[in-house]
Amino acid sequence: MKTETTIQGLTASLAPARNTKKMIGFVPTMGNLHEGHLTLVRAAKKICDIVVVSIFVNPIQFGAGEDFDSYPRTLEQDSRLLADVGCDIIFAPSVEQMYGSQPRLTNISVGQITDDLCGKSRPGHFDGVAVVVTKLFNIVQPDYAFFGQKDYQQLAVIRQFVQDLNIPLEVIGVPIVRAEDGLALSSRNGYLSAEQREIAPTIYRLLKQAEQSLQEGKALSEVLANISAQLTQAGFVVDYVEARQPNLQSVEQFDRNLVLFVAAKLGSTRLIDNLEVDFKT
Ligand code: PAJ
Repeated sequence: MKTETTIQGLTASLAPARNTKKMIGFVPTMGNLHEGHLTLVRAAKKICDIVVVSIFVNPIQFGAGEDFDSYPRTLEQDSRLLADVGCDIIFAPSVEQMYGSQPRLTNISVGQITDDLCGKSRPGHFDGVAVVVTKLFNIVQPDYAFFGQKDYQQLAVIRQFVQDLNIPLEVIGVPIVRAEDGLALSSRNGYLSAEQREIAPTIYRLLKQAEQSLQEGKALSEVLANISAQLTQAGFVVDYVEARQPNLQSVEQFDRNLVLFVAAKLGSTRLIDNLEVDFKT
C-alpha cells in the first residue's frame, strides 16, 4: 500500500493501472476510519482492481462553529486499518495541496434536494461536499466511487451532480453499518460521553418502531411526531424528523416506499440516521 500526499504523486502511482485499463475504485473519506468506511473499501475491492482511499478533512464543508478544528485526525491508525482491508493507495493531501493559494471562484451547488434536511441547518455544507468530491473525482479519475447510505442526502447530491455534469464514473451506494446496539457508526460517535453513548441508539430503536407502526397503518404525521417527542424525552435536541421518497422528493402517498430521516444533537454532538421503509413486505 502506498500513501500519496500530492496530486502529482498520486497521478504517477496510478499511471500503471490507468495505462493497463485496470478498474479503479475510489472511496473518499475524512479519516478516523471505522467499520463503515472499511465496508466501503471491501465493496470497492470486490469489483475493482485498484482501490484508492482519500483521507481529507475538507474545510469548506464545515460551517462556522462546527467541528473542523477538533475533527479527529488519525492517519497512522487509519493506514493500518486500510492495509488490512487491501487498500492499494491512500491519498492524504494537505489543505494547501487541494485548494492551493489562489482564491477559488467556482462553486458547485445542487438545487432542490439540498434545500432541506441537513441542508437547512448546515447552509453551504453540500456545496463544500460537491466541490471537494468533484475535485477528488478529477484527481483520481476512478471508474467507480463508493459512498455510504448513512449520509443519504449526501449520496443523493453526489448522484445528482455526477448525472448533471456527465462525470464519467459510476456511483455505488453502500448500506449503513451499525454497532451491535443499532447506532450507525460515525467518526463523531467518539465525541459522545459514556452516558450519551448509551442513549444514542435510541435513534435507531425509534426508527425501527416507526417502521413497524407505518407498516401497521399508523398515520405518518403521528409517527414522525412520536419519534420527535421520544427523542426529546431521551435528552436529544431534535434538528429534524422527516419522511421523504427515496429520491428525496416529498411523500405524497403513504402506500409507497419512503425513507425516514433523523438529525438530533446529544450535547454538542450532532447525529444523523435514516431508515428505508418498505411497504411491500
Ligand atoms: P466521512 O464522514 O469520513 O464518510 C466517508 C464515507 O463513509 C461516506 O460515503 C459515508 O457515507 C460513509 N460512511 C460513514 N459512516 C458509515 C456507516 N456507518 N455505514 C456506511 N457508510 C458510512 O462523508 C464524508 O466523509 C465527506 O463528506 C466526504 C464525502 C469524504 C467529502 O469530504
